[in-house]
Amino acid sequence: MARTFNTILVTGGAGFIGSHVVRRLVNNYPACKILNLDKLTYAGNLENLTDIQNKPNYIFVKGDINDINCIEDIFEKYTIEAVVHLAAESHVDRSISNPTEFAVTNVVGTINLLNAAKKNWAAASDKNLFYQISTDEVYGSLGATGLFTEETCYSPRSPYSASKASADHFVRAYHHTYLLPVAISNCSNNYGSFQFPEKLIPLAIHNIKNSKPVPVYGKGENIRDWLFVEDHAAAIDLILHNGLVGSTYNIGGFNEWKNIDLIRLLCKLMDKKLNRPAGSSEKLIAFVKDRAGHDLRYAIDSSKIKKELGWEPSLQFEQGLDKTVDWYLANEKWLNDITSGDYQNYYKKQYLER
Ligand code: NAD
Ligand code: DAU
Repeated sequence: MARTFNTILVTGGAGFIGSHVVRRLVNNYPACKILNLDKLTYAGNLENLTDIQNKPNYIFVKGDINDINCIEDIFEKYTIEAVVHLAAESHVDRSISNPTEFAVTNVVGTINLLNAAKKNWAAASDKNLFYQISTDEVYGSLGATGLFTEETCYSPRSPYSASKASADHFVRAYHHTYLLPVAISNCSNNYGSFQFPEKLIPLAIHNIKNSKPVPVYGKGENIRDWLFVEDHAAAIDLILHNGLVGSTYNIGGFNEWKNIDLIRLLCKLMDKKLNRPAGSSEKLIAFVKDRAGHDLRYAIDSSKIKKELGWEPSLQFEQGLDKTVDWYLANEKWLNDITSGDYQNYYKKQYLER
């Protein structure tokens, strides 16, 4: 039978995936209070949630998962019954320049939340769930064949994936040691609206639109498995309410793309949308210095979640990409606001001074 909750704490709900999760939960469960705790780092943006900000079951708290008093106050004041934990430093390139920040937010921040849940919930309670949103990157890198399953051993290879893997280990340790009710899902690369333009797809859309070089790392041979963000949010909703406690679920699109093929597809699409001569966007492709330790291939076997919970992606990649490009072109102000200020310094360091 499905679990129900009166109050759900979503961390990192002003970020890319978090905002889609918050929107879905607020709209689908009007009798449940959805509390969004977000520090509003460079990646957090309340503009992502303007459509639901006045709903009576939505509450925003600006706060840091490393502020123990803040977390304890929230648990006490709102009687939190479930946590959907998304707050994290999420960009691999930034983790290469600043690993410590990733350990502090992604590892210690997760432990702080686990401690608050442990303090406030009965051991083995069936009324509660601590749900950790993780990544396929914890499994390491694949060769030309094979898929990550839930049984694949962890083998993280970037500071980002090492921090997420460590956090997952703590979540499982709290389940084993203290009987904290937990679930974990490991998802592949998401794309869609409200994604910060440091990530490949929105960065490429932004640069093509502005006729700027589109940076492709190395030879563009690396492969990622892409999933539309609203399909990820639907999977999270399902696991939160119906997933088996103590379980791990892999979530992916069965949708592998070599980076260079994806960028070429995007260029063709953008030529059409912007009424530019065929082939003009492809001329913007610029092969740049590779990411250090760049994982070659990720690919997820998501047959468990399909078999046990009936989830599968709702959109074909071409449809999802089309919708995504339309959204970025229609939301110029959002993109311009987010790419002014600090983003310019990041861009200069990452792409122009290397
Ligand atoms: P994002 O960078 O867009 O958003 C992260 C959010 O966390 C931001 O709103 C930020 O303000 C908030 N945050 C950061 N540090 C915080 C702190 N100390 N306290 C409170 N809030 C803080 O990230 P995203 O791409 O939406 O990813 C969300 C989660 O999903 C992450 O845990 C990530 O590891 C995981 N994930 C992402 C993908 C992907 O493709 N983007 C895929 C699989 C899993
Ligand atoms: O696999 C899930 C992960 O996907 C999430 O856990 C991470 O939070 C998320 O950032 C994402 O990580 P990636 O490193 O795969 O995503 P990114 O968009 O940074 O890069 C996708 C691929 O494109 C990767 O092979 C690197 C390459 N790339 C990226 C950028 C930013 C380029 O070639 N050029 C670029 O400018």
